[in-house]
Amino acid sequence: MKRLDGKTIILAVTGSIAAYKAVEVARLFLKRGARVRPVMTASARKFLGPTTLSGITGEPVHADMWDSSIEGELHVTLARGADALVVVPATADRLAVFAQGRAEDLLGALALCVSCPVFVAPAMHPRMWAHAATQASVALLRSRGVAFLGPIHGQVASGDEGVGRMIDPEAVVEAVAEMLGSSQELAGRHVLVSAGPTVEDLDPVRFLTNRSSGKMGFAIAAQAARKGARVTLVAGPVNRATPANVERVNVRSALELQTELERILGPELRGADALIMAAAVADYRPASFSDTKIKKQGEGASLALVRNPDILAAIGARRTGPSPVLVGFALETGDEAAVTAYARGKVDAKKCDVIVANEASRALEGDSNTMYLVFASRDDAVGPISGSKDEVAAVIVSELAKLFERTPRP
Ligand SMILES: Cc1cc2nc3c(=O)[nH]c(=O)nc-3n(C[C@H](O)[C@H](O)[C@H](O)COP(=O)(O)O)c2cc1C
Repeated sequence: MKRLDGKTIILAVTGSIAAYKAVEVARLFLKRGARVRPVMTASARKFLGPTTLSGITGEPVHADMWDSSIEGELHVTLARGADALVVVPATADRLAVFAQGRAEDLLGALALCVSCPVFVAPAMHPRMWAHAATQASVALLRSRGVAFLGPIHGQVASGDEGVGRMIDPEAVVEAVAEMLGSSQELAGRHVLVSAGPTVEDLDPVRFLTNRSSGKMGFAIAAQAARKGARVTLVAGPVNRATPANVERVNVRSALELQTELERILGPELRGADALIMAAAVADYRPASFSDTKIKKQGEGASLALVRNPDILAAIGARRTGPSPVLVGFALETGDEAAVTAYARGKVDAKKCDVIVANEASRALEGDSNTMYLVFASRDDAVGPISGSKDEVAAVIVSELAKLFERTPRP
């Protein structure tokens, strides 16, 4: 059982019949050694008395952003000391509030203010959960890194059955402990991650790019930070929130990406302990950039392109020892044999430690991924490894920790 000693958890309760389950969640967090600071919405107080939560946690229940007995801004103060914001149960209304970024009450403001991981355990009637409006909120929140714990299929308060029932308190606590209580095995390491597409401008209004969403690289950056690494994320243009405890540098083109990575790594490649090249870097860019919009001429047109540098291969060629650990990505179409064979060629050509090989149709924009790991140090490929991009990122980061075992600590 992972302990949560020294961790501060904000347990936020919203207005569902399942609100009583928050009491058990609080008790289980305390049992694992966490400090629990309860927050309740106005509706939650219609279902559960604040006295129960304050009695169990030994902390005041915060419910009012305008509470004049508290010095400073309550939402800022609470957010500052939090290791996790856990919303149990989370109503459909609250998911919409979070998705829209509304800060009309304490919990809304708090959710905008925290930089710690946010977990929600939804509980609602199955039709509320299935509604397109709720699902749109869920998709948006997931894309911003909010962790959804449930809901599960089962009977809800009305007696109806379907997906909408809150997961058990034990499962909520276990999931949070799994993430927060994780070992800090990358402490003292600097991990450099590139993510997202590159954009190659042709003229002031046109450009060449690709469909990379940046999800994979952002998930890896978040996971490495959770494991205690200092993380720098160099990101192509994507509309994606920066994960907690990650320093972000925005770039546009492949050349800009190369400049930033080289700057951070330095001439002797000592600036980071690992480079994870999850960015989808354009192989080619327009041969020239026109300062003015290119006018149409005649019936056809052709575009002259020039090769972009192979950033990873250039770094691999310069590396003299095991550091920095180099992780590349290969996106291929074809079956398992084709994908892994291509990755093997890439490991050799780029002189990197491991290639994460993805099959293109599954990897580009979705939430999940199937991948193979092809290592320089072993002949067989590891995989297929399937799961959400967060789950796959966790596997990549734990493989990185193993690769670090043979590189000296800075
Ligand atoms: C008896 C009753 C039970 C409710 N149960 C739920 C529920 O389980 N899930 C939900 O999303 N909303 C439920 N609601 C509606 C929410 O309380 C309402 O949308 C409220 O605005 C939520 O506000 P909050 O998220 O700020 O707490 C319920 C309302 C009532 C009156």
